[in-house]
Amino acid sequence: MKAIVYTKYGSPDVLELKEVEKPIPKDDEVLIKIYAASVNAYDWHFLTADIFLIRFMGGGFFKPKDHRLGADVSGRVEAVGKNIKQFKPGDDVFGMIRGGFAEYACAAENLLALKPYNLSFEEAAAVPMAGSTALQGLRDEGKVQPGQKVLINGASGGVGTFAVQIAKLFGAEVTAVCSTRNLEQARSIGADHVIDYTKENFTKSDKHYDLIFAANGYHPLSDYKRALTPKGIYIMAGGSKAQIFQAMLMGKLMSEKGGRKMGGVSAKRSQKDLAFLKELLEAGKVVPVIDRRFTLSETAEALRYLGEGHARGKVVITIV
Ligand SMILES: NC(=O)c1ccc[n+]([C@@H]2O[C@H](COP(=O)([O-])OP(=O)(O)OC[C@H]3O[C@@H](n4cnc5c(N)ncnc54)[C@H](OP(=O)(O)O)[C@@H]3O)[C@@H](O)[C@H]2O)c1
Repeated sequence: MKAIVYTKYGSPDVLELKEVEKPIPKDDEVLIKIYAASVNAYDWHFLTADIFLIRFMGGGFFKPKDHRLGADVSGRVEAVGKNIKQFKPGDDVFGMIRGGFAEYACAAENLLALKPYNLSFEEAAAVPMAGSTALQGLRDEGKVQPGQKVLINGASGGVGTFAVQIAKLFGAEVTAVCSTRNLEQARSIGADHVIDYTKENFTKSDKHYDLIFAANGYHPLSDYKRALTPKGIYIMAGGSKAQIFQAMLMGKLMSEKGGRKMGGVSAKRSQKDLAFLKELLEAGKVVPVIDRRFTLSETAEALRYLGEGHARGKVVITIV
């Protein structure tokens, strides 16, 4: 089968499209024929090791341990191991696995859910990581409540477009922060208010938010804190390296007992959350926003495009 592989850390130039052995499912694995994948900053970090911690997090210190990339996929179950209970050959699935930039991959069944019936494979592959990050960040870490004022910084990217829609579903009044060209997109997915970050710095205004979800961009942690209501919560999902490190190092210290909380979200692979997202998608309550589509042989180009930091929604790889 064809797969994207890499044997050293580096830019997308180190990626190769190779003919490799088709994987065989173990007793507790499902073999998926992958129809579509999507690219995430997660893939970028494992490709480049730009965040040094990757080398300690199972990535391999000097070179990648696992030569495969690609977390988000959708496809059809081709075979199942003897302990598999939830899926059978012919089922269409989506999920967050390893080695998704390939024609086939094996995965544990708890990493997968049935594909929303009304979505194409490309649309379904756009969901798992970005949708889970937005859901877990807003609902589990941010404790979003109806009527709350929620601000999403970086509202026009993969995570942000899900965050706007999910915050609205939880009944929040949503302010989306993005650049001029994406204001209309933010409104079209449900944002009540939009702020153009090229013209206005929301942390300098006198408006305060019950929940700020930082998907992208950068503001000092103290500025975010100032923009919160007295019991407001800040959740960092991603953004510039400075944003990530400040939230990781200083977040707890800057949180107040009984007052403002400064936290973050690290997306977990949750089958329950995939099933929850599937329901929302099938009901048309959440719609994946897809920016560009690439083929498997164009994966390096797709990652380069993502790496520029201005994707409008998700970037998808069509495999067949
Ligand atoms: N915590 C987790 O578990 C987790 C999971 C997934 C992703 N992440 C992280 O979350 C972040 C976002 O991921 P993503 O997939 O949404 O990335 P993405 O799709 O590449 O985000 C691109 C978007 O970010 C916007 N943006 C760029 N600079 C901005 C700024 N200064 N202010 C506001 N928006 C800005 C761009 O809009 P313009 O073109 O309008 O500038 C573009 O629409 C990444 O850092 C990623 O590593 C974390």
